Amino acid sequence: SISRNYTFIVEDVPYTRLCHTKNIMTVNGQFPGPTLYAYKGDTIQVTVYNRARNNMTIHWHGVKQPRNPWSDGPEYITQCPIMPGDEFTYTLILSIEEGTLWWHAHNDFLRATVYGAIVIYPVPGTTYPYPTPDEEHVVILGEWWNEDVIEVLERALDTGGGFENSDAYTINGQPGDLYNCSSNDTYKIQVEYGRTYLLRMINADMSVGLFLSVANHNLTLVGSDGIYTEPLTSDYIVIYPGETMDFLLEANQSPENRYYMAARPFEPLDINLIDNRTTTAIIEYINSFENQSSTSPIFPLLPNYNDTNASTNFTFSIRGLLDGGHPIEVPTEIDRRILMTLSLNELPCEQQVCEGPNGTRLATSTNNISFEDPSISILEAYWKRIGGVYGTQFPDNPPVFFDFTAENQTESPFTRRGTEVKVLNYDERVEVVYQGTSLLGGEAHPMHIHGYSFYVIGWGLGNFNATRDPLRYNLMNPPLKNTIGVPRNGWVAIRFAAHNPGVWFLHCHLERHMIWGMDTVFLVKNGPSPSTSLLPPPQYMPPCVAPLRGVF
Ligand code: C2O
Ligand code: CU
Repeated sequence: SISRNYTFIVEDVPYTRLCHTKNIMTVNGQFPGPTLYAYKGDTIQVTVYNRARNNMTIHWHGVKQPRNPWSDGPEYITQCPIMPGDEFTYTLILSIEEGTLWWHAHNDFLRATVYGAIVIYPVPGTTYPYPTPDEEHVVILGEWWNEDVIEVLERALDTGGGFENSDAYTINGQPGDLYNCSSNDTYKIQVEYGRTYLLRMINADMSVGLFLSVANHNLTLVGSDGIYTEPLTSDYIVIYPGETMDFLLEANQSPENRYYMAARPFEPLDINLIDNRTTTAIIEYINSFENQSSTSPIFPLLPNYNDTNASTNFTFSIRGLLDGGHPIEVPTEIDRRILMTLSLNELPCEQQVCEGPNGTRLATSTNNISFEDPSISILEAYWKRIGGVYGTQFPDNPPVFFDFTAENQTESPFTRRGTEVKVLNYDERVEVVYQGTSLLGGEAHPMHIHGYSFYVIGWGLGNFNATRDPLRYNLMNPPLKNTIGVPRNGWVAIRFAAHNPGVWFLHCHLERHMIWGMDTVFLVKNGPSPSTSLLPPPQYMPPCVAPLRGVF
């Protein structure tokens, strides 16, 4: 194994999309940011120099950071932000993952432009558990706002209302042919007939899960969230923010045609504001360019924007790979079950008028606590035993039981703010059942956990039934994920053993839900020996001082 070094210079750089030019926060001037390459077993050190106007941090999404939450990145959870002029070196120990992961800013909406891929190849001398592809491409789905994203964020927080829609969905930073001012830069993948391509796909968007398909071509899923899966072939996929998926695409269609890869939102709720905007890339066959130039690419079929069946069929058909080389170690017994409700909520308005329902402030919660960021990092407070920063009263069950998914919800939509963590014993075998609720309509929530991957062992629509539903769990070949889309008004059961001590954020990967409070923290205690205990902090951590936002 090798130690690799990367330098990230964070700078505000002008970029133009949709005929709008603005400064965006970038890494090394690139948008999307640079790809990190490594082999399994390597260690990567990334030194981040903040030369931009805003505070920032970076999270290495899906990297488990064994015993080392100091390098995990979420603002006020494991570190204080890197202020303009400051720097911080992150250490990534890639001993577990294999496949595609990604990195992104973890504060203040900045991940809208600050993101990139992490590609982890098998240990040298070993191969993929599928035929070696001829070529590979990173494909990152994202979003573009014409406005400065910090302004979008601040306006939403000031008004207490919703976040405005972005102006485009993007593939590798490009909106594609269906948007104005964009067709010259549409992302293109050139393929050769008879060859196989590995697409390392990442959904970095902020707002919504996406349906995606490629005209006339199937996609075969072979990995997700940094581990291999049983191959799953489909003519469409759904990918939520935070998920990564590795697909094989066979170039086996008529080379005279060009083919769109297209993605657009999955919106489970029949809302009046259907967001049907579609981002596209083009698959074109090499050696046939001359014949192609006049024909417009073939457009794929995509599921309807509200097709919950299409969404759950894909998500819950994914299986772990039983090939011996990549063991499945799902806990068959558990020490604790946490039933965690995911709700849209209201909070009282502390100013004149708020733009949430009935003049309230929009919020979100887990188990009816709307997470509030502390003023110093929880990890630092835990390490230094500083009191008063967080509480340890996150409940194993929602405070009241009600019919979580009733179409006409009579429960109060109000919640309360709090900074409560869930303390887990080292090696405790934990089951979390995420329960969607219908408060304020409900939504599908991509739930992500830092420091761990978890087995997805069951799901259903409606309310979780603790007597009946566990009988149908898949303990044989469940997929190992770090992000899972919990269906609107449904539930998902996950399991993991708490063998990674530290402070680990857990949240909805829709950015607005995270900001509104659909978050909590697992504080996993040390094990019995030094080798099962937290590593000490690095020499230098960014200091915790009052937030300085955009005042330069
Ligand atoms: Cu990619 Cu805390 O998230
Ligand atoms: Cu959510």
